[in-house]
Amino acid sequence: MELFLDSADIEEIRDLAKTGLVDGITTNPSLVAKSGGDFKTLLKEIAAVIKGPISAETVAPKAEGMIEEAKKLLPIAENIVIKVPLTWEGLKATRALSREGVKVNVTLCFSAAQALAAAKAGAFYVSPFIGRLDDVGASGSELLQEIRAIYDNYPDSIETRILAASIRSADHIAEAALAGADCATAPPKILRQIVHHPLTDKGLAAFLADWKKTGQSIL
Ligand code: G3P
Repeated sequence: MELFLDSADIEEIRDLAKTGLVDGITTNPSLVAKSGGDFKTLLKEIAAVIKGPISAETVAPKAEGMIEEAKKLLPIAENIVIKVPLTWEGLKATRALSREGVKVNVTLCFSAAQALAAAKAGAFYVSPFIGRLDDVGASGSELLQEIRAIYDNYPDSIETRILAASIRSADHIAEAALAGADCATAPPKILRQIVHHPLTDKGLAAFLADWKKTGQSIL
């Protein structure tokens, strides 16, 4: 499963890119607002460090506007993926852009039927928001399983990749992988958490303490 960083914080992106864990980046208008930077400059900066897909979200309400915005965003870097909302207008834009060979990430997906619609429109990625579903008492991982099963029923006609989004914990990343998501996008804090386990820290402390008792040096 590919791991993307859900962030518009260039310092975090630069730092985490060094781990080799970051296969791509997803951004959204809220993350750009939080970063406080200029969107297009930010995309250029991200593209200088990340060679994998970088999702850049359109904000126009109508398909024509989304397509117009996509044309401004695409020349910024060759790895830009255009993100559009899962609405009728978003699907019209998806259809038109994908026919021109543009990779489209259809975002704000909350149901299996919506994911089917996104695939039919030609989405390269569909982004189910699993954390926001869990927040309202539904099951994000069940949604991922349903989408996986539906897409796998039609291997000859559906190539859309499932990008688990709205990740709230390291467990969510494991759930996404278990459900067969192709990718998951997580905020920097969560990506850092996936490596940590208290028993790893405890075990390492014990090993080092015992090593000290030997009085040896490997060098
Ligand atoms: O980028 C889309 C998604 O990952 C947003 O997550 O935490 O705002 O629900 P969140």
